Amino acid sequence: MNTPRLLHPFAKPAKDSFRSLVRAEGVRVWDDTGREYIDGLGSLWYCQVGYGRTEVIEAIERELRVGHYNVFDPWANPITEQAAERIAEVSPMPDGRVFLCCSGSESVDTAFKITRLTAQLKGEPDRQIMLTRGRGYHGVNMAGTSLQGIAPNRENWGDLVPHVIEIDPDDIESAARAFAEHGERIAGVICEPVQGAGGVHPPTDDYLRRLRELCTKSGALLVLDEVICGFGRTGSWFASHTYDVTPDLITFAKGVTSGYQPVGGVIVSRGVCDVLEAAPDYIFRHGYTYSGHPAGAAAAIANIDLIESDGLVERANGIGERFSAGLNALVGDGRLAEARGVGGVWAAKLPEGTEPHETIAIRDAMLDKGVICRPIGDSLGFCPPLVISDADIDTMIDVLSDTID
Ligand SMILES: Cc1ncc(COP(=O)(O)O)c(C=O)c1O
Repeated sequence: MNTPRLLHPFAKPAKDSFRSLVRAEGVRVWDDTGREYIDGLGSLWYCQVGYGRTEVIEAIERELRVGHYNVFDPWANPITEQAAERIAEVSPMPDGRVFLCCSGSESVDTAFKITRLTAQLKGEPDRQIMLTRGRGYHGVNMAGTSLQGIAPNRENWGDLVPHVIEIDPDDIESAARAFAEHGERIAGVICEPVQGAGGVHPPTDDYLRRLRELCTKSGALLVLDEVICGFGRTGSWFASHTYDVTPDLITFAKGVTSGYQPVGGVIVSRGVCDVLEAAPDYIFRHGYTYSGHPAGAAAAIANIDLIESDGLVERANGIGERFSAGLNALVGDGRLAEARGVGGVWAAKLPEGTEPHETIAIRDAMLDKGVICRPIGDSLGFCPPLVISDADIDTMIDVLSDTID
């Protein structure tokens, strides 16, 4: 077998051929055979501003020319401080602080540790339980793997992190029962406002507000994992805004730089910061070598500036209307079983009884017709760059419709 040297993520190690992409611009990418694709997935749910944006590329280059250095104690630099300021400013916690890392998985493991740490520092050592929702995806580091609501992703890694309890993703009474049973041993709950990789499931009515209430009443922290939802995707800067719920911690990555640099992080509310800052000699013993890397910081600032100047937060709502109309028309004529989504993130549920291998076959046929989407069980996920035109959305839906036929 002639497998490539690269061990591909989330792929069969025995697979020996992949589509090689050689160029990307705007909402389009090209493979090495010259085939052009509309990118209906923003690469991997991450590209808000489209590809090839010179504003971001030049900002990164400028910063690398200035030089780069770490931000472990005693160091700081202006661009990283500025990025933290900019991220906090557009978040629902403008008086909070921002921890930076390099991926969504690192942000989840960081939030998991801060959640337990907060309980420890408050003198509640028994609060170690983390609740997580079925269907949730929280990355692949050890805490994130343990918090996975997608069972196959938890398998074969040996013992996972203990004290994780899974609750029903849609029925808030399941969370209420967990709080009733474990109450003062719960450190926090992690939850994607709109579940992405698990199939694009917006929250059921009032789910997030009631989760917030349960956490507040019990003294547990609410962690909203906005790795996909953040930075305009749901039609507000954060889904916390869209659903009007203020968490204690927000994890982010992806859209913060549109993937121009690998950046993730955690927005830490003022309340949690107060706990961390209470003892002057306490040292926060957590951080990655590349936390706050200047190239990532420059990318984040330039990308956020573009989201703002291009009006992409508002545009996500227009994208949502277009998807909703197009996909629901296919539901109406029986080609789809359901359309789920909000703003710039959608799923098309294929007719009842569609098997995962059939979903993959439809995805592959759509690739051959120049449209990229993601197979998830019986559904296809869409999360295009927020610069996509209505005409390109219509083309994707036409290709979906033809392919199902
Ligand atoms: C909600 C959520 N959390 C965490 C992650 C992990 O992010 P990364 O792949 O950057 O580690 C993802 C990735 O898709 C995600 O969707």
